[in-house]
Amino acid sequence: MKGAPFYILGNWKSNKTVAEAADWIKEFASLWKKQPPDTSRVQVVLFCGYIHLPVLASLVALSPVKLVLGVQNISAYPAGAYTGEICANQVSEFARFALIGHSERRRLFAETNVVAAEKIKRVIEAGMESVYCIQEESMNMPDVCNIIAYEPVWAIGTGKPAAPEHASEVAAKIIAQAKRNVKVIYGGSVTPDNVHTYAAMLHISGVLPGGASLNAKTFYSLIINAQR
Ligand code: PGA
Repeated sequence: MKGAPFYILGNWKSNKTVAEAADWIKEFASLWKKQPPDTSRVQVVLFCGYIHLPVLASLVALSPVKLVLGVQNISAYPAGAYTGEICANQVSEFARFALIGHSERRRLFAETNVVAAEKIKRVIEAGMESVYCIQEESMNMPDVCNIIAYEPVWAIGTGKPAAPEHASEVAAKIIAQAKRNVKVIYGGSVTPDNVHTYAAMLHISGVLPGGASLNAKTFYSLIINAQR
């Protein structure tokens, strides 16, 4: 691992009740307390559900855990008369990051680049930061994002991760194309067993585990193994 902290971005997707989320953080905190990860080397972010935000924020504040919260989606609209939407301003009290353009949102919820661009504006207005997902290196990247997640669809939830060398090569191309200094994160079937192979790659600045973030012990092991 080189220089800046390696990002570990857990994505719970549509999983966990509030009670389950509270149990998760309690177990995670007890593991953390026994052997705290070196937070100069890893930055841990958890993309939970909206309903989990207040509870997780207060439990994290009471624990030794250094974990930042993020949301998996956000309204393209500001605060106002948009029934059923959750806007960036509402979550900014708890969350620092927003995941934008995840492949599941593009495929199942018609999230186009145009919609994603609106969401990014709302995130910036709320003083938060976007993690912008692209599924192929040829995809458009907004100029304003500092963190780009490369997550090939064939690697998501399949148990068939991209080879770290491939992910690093794509990351290098993304960095070369970007108009600003971007960090590239890899997502797709990252586990405690393979995370160190990504952490060893020059152009990869973090990982985005979905399935491997659901169990507190697994996620904690992934963090510990990323430090190697
Ligand atoms: P996975 O999901 O780790 O379960 O493959 C990753 C993602 O959605 O980016």
